[in-house]
Amino acid sequence: MNDATRQTMQTWLQDALPDATQSNPKYWFPLTMPTYGVDEIGEAIECMVDFQTSMGQRTRAFERQFADYVGATDAVMVNSGSSADLLLAYQLVNPLNPKLQPGDEVLVPVVTWPTQVWSIAMAGLKVELVDVDPQTLNVDLDDMRRRLTPRTKCFFAVHLMGNPCAMDAIRAFCNEHDLLLIEDCCEALGAKFDDQHVGTFGLGGSFSFFFSHHMTTMEGGMVTCTSEEQADELRVLRAHGWSRGLQNQVADASPAIDSRYLFVNWGFNLRPTELQAAFGMHQLVKLPAMNDRRRELATRFDDFVAAHPGLSTPKVPRGGEGSPFALPVMLSGALADRRGELTTELESKGIETRPIVAGNLARQPAAAILGDVDPSAYRGADQIHQRGFYLGLSPGFDDVVFQRMLETLDASIAKVSRTSSIHKVA
Ligand SMILES: Cc1ncc(COP(=O)(O)O)c(C=O)c1O
Repeated sequence: MNDATRQTMQTWLQDALPDATQSNPKYWFPLTMPTYGVDEIGEAIECMVDFQTSMGQRTRAFERQFADYVGATDAVMVNSGSSADLLLAYQLVNPLNPKLQPGDEVLVPVVTWPTQVWSIAMAGLKVELVDVDPQTLNVDLDDMRRRLTPRTKCFFAVHLMGNPCAMDAIRAFCNEHDLLLIEDCCEALGAKFDDQHVGTFGLGGSFSFFFSHHMTTMEGGMVTCTSEEQADELRVLRAHGWSRGLQNQVADASPAIDSRYLFVNWGFNLRPTELQAAFGMHQLVKLPAMNDRRRELATRFDDFVAAHPGLSTPKVPRGGEGSPFALPVMLSGALADRRGELTTELESKGIETRPIVAGNLARQPAAAILGDVDPSAYRGADQIHQRGFYLGLSPGFDDVVFQRMLETLDASIAKVSRTSSIHKVA
């Protein structure tokens, strides 16, 4: 596309784009709002007019930029965060380079997005769900210790809602028990522990670029890697098991096979499109400012919560720096059993709410897949299941809207508390 055409396109896009703050007609305080604009859409259009829609140079450039941002050796882009989890799990059981054996046990926190858990089960490994501390929303190390068996070989951490796990304790635990460590960072891009980005502590980290996450590629995900060899291994698994696009060419390729269709392993097709990478390149530039704004709003929310008995937000571990994904709240005291009333009230006033992801996953119908799991063995998760919910967070929320949300929340808490004491007197 030449400069004049690009200029015309950008001007047209500028005029055509509606107000992002009005993108959700049902809620004036939605879970999220669009953070992409002329740059991302324009670059995606360029991919199409250049007939470069399938994975190519933009994807590779974005992978490099992302790896540099989080401080990883390399990164491999995929079509979703769930696919990133799947690659991390299948890397453990790669038939040509297995790190674990079928049936080996992997510890996974019981409060998480379910595809993190399924990735392990689908890879033929045994999931051992571990309880979560309701004060942090992250793994309960004591429960992790209790659930260790001689077959435990790996811990798949998750940094829920952008709150980093206490990685010093987790690393020490994994070292002590000779466990591999992988990290689901799909809700935590930008979070750090001891100034080190999550996703760089173990054998790899998964990230999601779904619409509501810290940055978006529409759908999309990334796996961070510790070496070029590992990145090549993941690229083979990502795309058909073939050898195309590797950093290090396969040395022992059979001369009898056309290298364009050389299959060196089994594999999926989890490739992103070039349009997604085009979005990603621009979103990554905006990410630090977007995350700063998220932090600023989350701090205001923390101050509000601190002034309201019966409400709390997750504690960040010492040494941790959160990258807020949303505004999670735990209820206690007189409000402990009033979640349903409070969220119904907020929804009726135009504020969107959600439970804290799947809650106690052992209570979801799909947990039957895992076999004999006792849902009542997860007391921390049950508290989150019954008393937790979250409000949305977007860098696009302006101060006026945010203040209005706080005032509405304040009035809703007062209303629910009033009915709660009337119930008690009656
Ligand atoms: C913790 C966690 N892991 C994995 C995923 C899956 O990401 P995606 O929706 O991009 O498949 C999500 C999605 O929200 C998530 O929150």
